[in-house]
Amino acid sequence: MMLSLSLVVLGLSSLVASADLGISISLPSLLSCGLFPQTSCRNTTVQTDLCCFNAPGGQLLMTQFWDFSPSAGPSNSWTIHGLWPDHCDGTYDANCDASRELSNITQTLKAAKQTTLLSYMNTYWKDQNGNDESFWEHEWNKHGTCISTLEPKCFKGSRDPTPDVVAYFDKTVSLFQQLPTYLFLAANGIVPDAKKTYTLAQINNAIKLFTGHIPTAGCTKDGYLSEMWYHYVVQGSVATGNFIHADPDGSKSSCPATGIKYVPKGFVKPTTTAAPAPASTPAA
Ligand SMILES: *[C@@H]1O[C@H](CO)[C@@H](O)[C@H](O)[C@H]1NC(C)=O
Ligand SMILES: *[C@@H]1O[C@H](CO)[C@@H](O)[C@H](O)[C@H]1NC(C)=O
Repeated sequence: MMLSLSLVVLGLSSLVASADLGISISLPSLLSCGLFPQTSCRNTTVQTDLCCFNAPGGQLLMTQFWDFSPSAGPSNSWTIHGLWPDHCDGTYDANCDASRELSNITQTLKAAKQTTLLSYMNTYWKDQNGNDESFWEHEWNKHGTCISTLEPKCFKGSRDPTPDVVAYFDKTVSLFQQLPTYLFLAANGIVPDAKKTYTLAQINNAIKLFTGHIPTAGCTKDGYLSEMWYHYVVQGSVATGNFIHADPDGSKSSCPATGIKYVPKGFVKPTTTAAPAPASTPAA
């Protein structure tokens, strides 16, 4: 899906690079920002071209949900939460550009002829309460507008009116497709079960076998596994660069060390009979 966009963006720079080297290179992803752009959060000198270097949000998180109650998405797959640019210390900016906020992601992707992407999103990028469009708007408005390498000035020459929006959703989906959490866990015997529990070390190690780094697993307050965050640094831009798995930087797992419940979608939590319901419920 990225190829046509990349080619438009890279048209000129690839020609120049090929001429310089006297060979034809089939790695357009590295050419728009030179052959070896520095890697975010690992740079050794100050970087000024923030179209080719993600800053200040240099740690990119591909985040996923295990929504079991109410359940969302296929029963044998996690679903997409978003793509978030954290500072290298785990703090982050949000809602960075009000002028680029959208309330029509579906229309925008349709206008950009991204129907395959949209249909994938309709299956795997699910809002737990069924409001997929507003969920996508929230992710773009809050996080997408904070990615320095996706600013409109980074897409000069593109014929697409919204290359930043397309790149955000397309990249998030393609990272998700490389991170099948359900299969990563199942390969190590960690499968949804109404009765069994798992340790955080089991979950971390299962993921680490595939990515080389532990993720940040997220749990509800009562110990149900509900989120998985994958951490990256990026060599080059989010649209065309090289995503490199990294350790979590600053964020901490909200899961207990032991007794983690990973339950099938549609599972209904047992009702507590011991204590009466509290008078008021704190806002989530
Ligand atoms: C890395 O680049 C960022 C952005 O230019 C800069 O703020 C930071 O100081 C750089 N780090 C080093 C070690 O030069
Ligand atoms: C989406 O909304 C933006 C901002 O309101 C507007 O400029 C744009 O034309 C809309 N896109 C489509 C495809 O309707």
